[in-house]
Amino acid sequence: MTGDLSPADKAKFVAANRAADHVEDGMQVGLGTGSTAAWLVKRLGERVRDEGLTFRGVPTSTRTATQAREEGIEVISLDQAGWLDLTIDGADEFDSELTLIKGGGGAHLQEKIVAKASDRMIVIADAAKEVATLGAFPLPVEVIPFGLNSTKKLIEEALVALDVQGRTTALRMNGDAPFVTDEGNHIIDLHLQRIGDARAMSLMLNQLPGVVENGLFIEMCDLVIVGHADGRVDLHHVTKASV
Ligand code: A5P
Repeated sequence: MTGDLSPADKAKFVAANRAADHVEDGMQVGLGTGSTAAWLVKRLGERVRDEGLTFRGVPTSTRTATQAREEGIEVISLDQAGWLDLTIDGADEFDSELTLIKGGGGAHLQEKIVAKASDRMIVIADAAKEVATLGAFPLPVEVIPFGLNSTKKLIEEALVALDVQGRTTALRMNGDAPFVTDEGNHIIDLHLQRIGDARAMSLMLNQLPGVVENGLFIEMCDLVIVGHADGRVDLHHVTKASV
């Protein structure tokens, strides 16, 4: 069934399938957003139909909510769930401490809220997402529409004092108009090349007025499942030493 897939999609498929095995009857599960998470939702739909798996899913975006419903998964809101056993999501980058950059799909605000409300977070990825140092992938920052240019300037000024290699910022576009998140906000992508201190970066960004949330996930991920095109998976567990 994976014969027609590109090597990257095969890798995402095997990672997602392995992660889907972690979902058990009765669980409340956060469902991530993105192309890898879409494979997960598809597999969980199969398990619901074929095995009679009963679980409730909390989607992290309207896209994932739509797909989950189409797959026959019972969808509830985070407030209805209250607390989640597990969240499974993709990532744009992860390092050896399992610190993540997320938000390439523009959903990192809901993704972070959902992951924080979960006992465990599993990330599913292909090997290209593993990096020695975070920052080659532009760091997404969700900002409110009011005063957008002022907030962008504040971010640029604050970056001067931080340990990064690049300081270019770009408003994310969707055609001719700014990209709009599920919360009605915009995203500024920070082209940093290298993030020397993820914690300092995250704290700095989130204290600026106009910033809602940045795409750094620190001490949130418990396990990264890396899929490979030949069907293998590697497991990266968080270690006590790394947190
Ligand atoms: C969505 O906002 C993101 O955080 C995604 O989880 C992340 O961009 C990974 O997406 P892919 O699985 O499509 O690479």
